[in-house]
Amino acid sequence: MKIEEILERAREELRPGEEERERLGRVAKGIMEKVEEIMERKGLEGEARLGGSYAHGTWLSGQADVDVFILLEPGVSLDEEGVGIALDSARGSRVEIRYAEHPYVRTEVDDVRVELVPCYNVRQGAWISAADRSPYHTEYLLKRLDDEIRDEIRLAKAFMTSIGVYGAEIKVRGFSGYLIEILVLAYGGFHELLDEVITWRKGEIISPEPLNVDVGRFHKGAPLIVPDPVDQRRNIAAAVSNESLGTFILAAERFLRDPSMAFFRGRPQPLTSVNASHLAENIVVVVFEKPDKPGDILWGEVWKTAKGFAAYLNRRGFRVLRYTATEDSYTISIAFLMETTRCCRLKTRKGPSVFMRDARNKFVEARVREGNNVVWVGEDGRLYSLSPRLETTAGEALLEALKMPVEVAGAAKGLVDTLKRTSRVFCGWETVGGGYKSMWLSVLGVSTGHA
Ligand code: CTP
Ligand code: MG
Repeated sequence: MKIEEILERAREELRPGEEERERLGRVAKGIMEKVEEIMERKGLEGEARLGGSYAHGTWLSGQADVDVFILLEPGVSLDEEGVGIALDSARGSRVEIRYAEHPYVRTEVDDVRVELVPCYNVRQGAWISAADRSPYHTEYLLKRLDDEIRDEIRLAKAFMTSIGVYGAEIKVRGFSGYLIEILVLAYGGFHELLDEVITWRKGEIISPEPLNVDVGRFHKGAPLIVPDPVDQRRNIAAAVSNESLGTFILAAERFLRDPSMAFFRGRPQPLTSVNASHLAENIVVVVFEKPDKPGDILWGEVWKTAKGFAAYLNRRGFRVLRYTATEDSYTISIAFLMETTRCCRLKTRKGPSVFMRDARNKFVEARVREGNNVVWVGEDGRLYSLSPRLETTAGEALLEALKMPVEVAGAAKGLVDTLKRTSRVFCGWETVGGGYKSMWLSVLGVSTGHA
């Protein structure tokens, strides 16, 4: 199929139908009325405003959430009054307080997910909370979007979802819905976006509006700079990591060369058809129970722990080439791609300078007491001895570290309990069976989709 035929078919698949629009419309109307009624009853000044992809008309068919912003006057507490209004409006359905920069409420009405986000009603630029820009985003986009460009935005969102880079949360460090809306708007279409993406340089600056601040200087070092049209000093691509940006570039290049519907259907594509199972031997996976806490906190801890374990393995003489982490409903898995999984028969111990008489003698005597007579002076003038140890495997080293994960391997404190209690370690071929195959494909970068 030609690229334009594929894009047209995808547009049709992703565009929400009439029934879905009506259902969402009913839910949105009901909850807006509820919020305003409760504000009035509480005597609080403010209003409810629709925001996010539902208000912009850019949600993917079947994946909508309705974002309702509760605009309050400065001085009122978002954590107390704001969340209070949200909770009262949501009463009766499945209700949950969630935490971003400040708390908000998630609920479900007629199988539609609704997010009630308190924020302040302020002049443009006089932001108090991070959510205060959102009503301005909606105002801006409603002025600039038409139905054609909405289709293009949906293509881009589905593409990003399918390759695993949709979302600005810490787990993904990818492209937020609003960032995608602005990127597509800047280039005028999805195909146009892909054509440009493959030419991007590091620190590329993209804006649908003329720039009136020196954004390059503000955001030095960022892999991608997309100034927010409602506040040009904010980079809406600030969360994008080199890895997710690079994954997008690779996938764009591949799609342009070999387009297929799979790029819009949430199925990451193998980069090549080469069978990589011979690398299974070099993979080690730590699996543990997923604790119940907000996603950004959990994933901050998971990435810190993964990095700590990788550094620990390297210190122990194993070489970690790459690591990644994934989750399912109940577990977190951290996978390591190793250059070596067995190490090391010999280890040197570094002693004091040979010119430090007391320390020198102590060091030598101690070695003699141990029955270890291999001691030499290095080029740096320090004493060295060999401390023999049993060869171990990376799996054994990890099991050892998991007894004291924070002290030994720099794991996040918030995960100590679950790591100690529930961790299991799988090595080599053990990681091929069951649900781990997609995980080790992702640690190999074989799929364009990431954890
Ligand atoms: N928002 C933002 N930056 C983010 C996340 C959210 O500015 N990193 C603001 C935007 O104003 C966005 C609104 O919050 O329009 C709602 O965000 P969210 O529900 O996370 O995303 P949507 O754009 O609604 O996309 P989705 O269809 O995935 O819900
Ligand atoms: Mg949303």
